[in-house]
Amino acid sequence: MDILFGKTSKKKYDTALVFVAEDLKLGARGKILDDAVEGALVASIKNAPRFKGKLGQTHILPLGKGAHYKRVVVAGVGKAKELTDQKLRVLGGKLYDALKATGAVDVLMMPEEDGELAAGISNFVSEGVLRKSYFFDKYKGKKDDADEGAKLTSVTYDVDNSKALAAKFEATKNVIDGMELTRNLVSEPPNALYPDSFAKIVEKELKPLGVKVKVLDEKKLEKMGAGAIMAVGKGSARKPRLAILEYNGLGKKNSKPSMGIVGKGITFDTGGYNVKTSNMHWMQFDMGGAGTVAGAMKAIALNKEKVHVVAALALAENMISDEAYRPSDIITSLSGQTIEVLNTDAEGRLVMCDAMTYLQNEYKVETLVDVATLTGACMIALGNEYGGAFTPSDELWRKIETAGGESGDKVWRMPLDEAWDKEMKGAHADLKNLGDSSFAGASTAAAFLKAFVQEDVTWAHLDVAGVVWSFKPNDLWGKGATGYGVGMLQNLIKECAA
Ligand code: BES
Ligand code: MN
Ligand code: ZN
Repeated sequence: MDILFGKTSKKKYDTALVFVAEDLKLGARGKILDDAVEGALVASIKNAPRFKGKLGQTHILPLGKGAHYKRVVVAGVGKAKELTDQKLRVLGGKLYDALKATGAVDVLMMPEEDGELAAGISNFVSEGVLRKSYFFDKYKGKKDDADEGAKLTSVTYDVDNSKALAAKFEATKNVIDGMELTRNLVSEPPNALYPDSFAKIVEKELKPLGVKVKVLDEKKLEKMGAGAIMAVGKGSARKPRLAILEYNGLGKKNSKPSMGIVGKGITFDTGGYNVKTSNMHWMQFDMGGAGTVAGAMKAIALNKEKVHVVAALALAENMISDEAYRPSDIITSLSGQTIEVLNTDAEGRLVMCDAMTYLQNEYKVETLVDVATLTGACMIALGNEYGGAFTPSDELWRKIETAGGESGDKVWRMPLDEAWDKEMKGAHADLKNLGDSSFAGASTAAAFLKAFVQEDVTWAHLDVAGVVWSFKPNDLWGKGATGYGVGMLQNLIKECAA
């Protein structure tokens, strides 16, 4: 779908849309539309007692033959003074559904020209429209909207300062494009998306944008001593990969990345020998952390941000075979620390720890953020709405909170504690990959990762188990891949570079 700025005489619009607040008073542009239909718009609003101008509520006046538009849509913005960026995104999501349901194809948006609101509407309502319009029907013979007759194809803002608003929206659109990469990756089934194909897709997407891509295969990982990611991945015929993505938008050759980001990329998680007994099919989204990181790198590169950042995608498939790792194996991680594998289903922390060590050793990053669908416990705590953030640093937490607040990614700080650090110590090895009970499962997993954070490195762990995939539609996404965290990560990378 296209978002366009400035109306042209070359294009026909079937739908005109104006905004009203809860006082239901039409602005200047609404009045022009009303005059053109001899007062029918105002009369129809009066005759629709349930239309109260609430955020995202719509009132539709279909027009007859000879009229300039097929319909006029009056969209409520609620209490105009209480509007926020996030409310405007929600408004966009709701409008997408309403416009689609009414059969609108080319919509002319006519915000009243009061500067800031028009700017906010064109940027954030458009973001909401685009985010809500995502669907994945690549593998459907008959496409979802094939028999609906009409497809929403464009939204045009009829505004004076169209050039400036278009330029502002460009940066937002780049984040949406990053999110689309994330959502496509997360949506792909595991027979199509496995460590090597994941690395190839990312390479194809990001190299042309100036991102350096280096892929370490199983031979290199083995030789290097990345025993944790190897242990998880070796049970699959589709061997593990560590994909390193580096973006330097600073122009200086010898600068050092201000930040390292690690993404969990388990392309399928059967649980291994601790095989999952329920909801195994969910685990096609267990690469959501890596997908989010790839999407954020795309957004950063498209926006040519003045940052230098490096990311590692820890890609592996957790399977069962006579080469697979066993519960009670003791493995040696890249850091040199040994780990007692007490549960092969706690594989995420194992692939993550080697990737974290790699970025700290090779790139000397001082800030390290990891993103992972790490624990069912975090999903149980925070559901489909909030991601969990774990960090010992109040300052980094504040940056995460700000970054998520701006992008509309809800995030909640979760606890770390020495008690959990102790709990993760092994009986026969330095560490074990399982806590003593299922209590505080998200925090014990975080404590495990913390053992791989080197001195003087500021670290945060984002557990996104509940949010990369949605089981029910909300105002900003349908069922399926959400794109959660791409905008937040882009903002965070920028904040940590500043
Ligand atoms: N990928 C899962 C976590 C997960 C579960 C994400 C449900 C999203 C939805 C992870 O690898 C896992 O299996 N974790 C175990 C850890 C346990 C064995 C300590 C879990 O959460 O049960
Ligand atoms: Mn698992
Ligand atoms: Zn997993």
